[in-house]
Amino acid sequence: DGFPATKLFSQGYSYTYDDVIFLPHYIDFPADSVRLDTKLTRNIHLSTPCVASPMDTVTESAMAAALAHLGGVGIIHSNNSASDQSALIRAAKARRFPSLSDPIVVSSSDSIASVSEFGSSPCILVTKTGAKNSGLLGVVSKSDWLAMDDVNNKEARVSDYMVKSPVTVPSSYSFEDVAGYLANSKLDFVAMVDEGSGEVVDVVASADVERIKGYPRGGVPSLGADGKFLVGAAIGTREADKERLEHLVKAGANVVVLDSSQGNSSYQIEMIKYVKRTYPELDVIGGNVVTMYQAQNLIQAGVDGLRVGMGSGSICTTQEVCAVGRGQATAVYKVSSIAEQSGVPVIADGGISNSGHIVKALVLGASTVMMGSFLAGSNEAPGAYEFQGGHRVKKYRGMGSLEAMTKGSDARYLGDKEKLKIAQGVVGAVADKGSVLKFIPYSMQAVKQGLQDLGASSLQSAHDLLRSGVLRLEVRTGAAQIEGGVHGLAITLTMSSP
Ligand code: XMP
Repeated sequence: DGFPATKLFSQGYSYTYDDVIFLPHYIDFPADSVRLDTKLTRNIHLSTPCVASPMDTVTESAMAAALAHLGGVGIIHSNNSASDQSALIRAAKARRFPSLSDPIVVSSSDSIASVSEFGSSPCILVTKTGAKNSGLLGVVSKSDWLAMDDVNNKEARVSDYMVKSPVTVPSSYSFEDVAGYLANSKLDFVAMVDEGSGEVVDVVASADVERIKGYPRGGVPSLGADGKFLVGAAIGTREADKERLEHLVKAGANVVVLDSSQGNSSYQIEMIKYVKRTYPELDVIGGNVVTMYQAQNLIQAGVDGLRVGMGSGSICTTQEVCAVGRGQATAVYKVSSIAEQSGVPVIADGGISNSGHIVKALVLGASTVMMGSFLAGSNEAPGAYEFQGGHRVKKYRGMGSLEAMTKGSDARYLGDKEKLKIAQGVVGAVADKGSVLKFIPYSMQAVKQGLQDLGASSLQSAHDLLRSGVLRLEVRTGAAQIEGGVHGLAITLTMSSP
């Protein structure tokens, strides 16, 4: 009944996730016992197989902290200067919990009039010089500041208004410790301070704690060897990227992604060797690739992980502009089958728009999925919500769009600043999805149910069942795809889960 994957994927067709469907198998365990723990690279383990894409409308510090909190990882984009990218890494790693605002720190000698913005932060922290490590002297809460008559008084110093010697908690406190402390003390917020250096690490608002407590539990948080959130960073393959990498490593990047739309190049192979030679402890992810030949070259060069996908992303136009690429289901299956032999985990990058796509990617051989549009409408994505046509949306743009390339991302598409720019992506907007802290755990529960239907109690067992031919697939006709979605209703009254 159905086809084994080897047969289905050797007929000369390029299949997308929607083209294929798994046939159900045999269940003898509950969905809750399905394990999703996995590997991002040869040496990095994750409890949740989700990676946030290095795109400037997807992954900055809030997204990276949230994904690490959930047991996944975020890759900070490189469409910025090396120092800006390093600052984003530091900000993500400074967090103990995912919150939407970075702590605002000012000097006690600043004028109160210079304090103009709290963002979503509940307070500003006052230190001697304004640096986080210059000793916490006081705090000014947003509520006190709003009640002040003379906030525009340029003569008045912050030190005249701050509440001196605020209570703090050690930065080693767990989420539960801080939540308990805030509940007992009835404080609206508390600063977290490193016990050794005295550096201010974070401010935790009780409103944030309550929000996070209301979300379903994610996986075990991803931490680096430094005990801080695991954070990845993207770089290119040019000479200047070697210097950029030095900054990123100093900022604490735990893994680096060589960000290229066609990764099988002499530039990338040279860069992989350079990274492994210069930073033997740092895992390097190569790509993007979609064929076994491309993958083999990068594996030989020493990559620790492979990013798979070309032209499958929601904002991508590579296949139309350059006539190159591959259906994502075929690409993931083919590359995984060769990468598996060398123990190199595969990241299925792009084309994920529902939890069924995640199941397909993971069963076809990927160890993680990398997502752009799936995450771009969340609170944690950079940028503000806008209203368009009565819908609350957030901007989402391809890194190969002309708009993004004017900020520097043309390196990914091997564009040359001096010559004509050819767009390989578009600018758009995606619907508001709320917090990733909420919808990722729901999506992962749906993935567990998908694996349960296939009789796979872990990702490894799914891969084994597929390779051994026990799991069977079929191609869906156009009509079968329509039948597999919502159809025949005049109106849909409830939304399905992600
Ligand atoms: P999704 O489908 O998750 O895809 O939105 C995200 C992935 O798409 C890739 N990407 C691009 N591909 N032109 C392309 O051809 C672009 O402008 C572009 N921007 C991003 C990238 O691999 C990302 O992870």
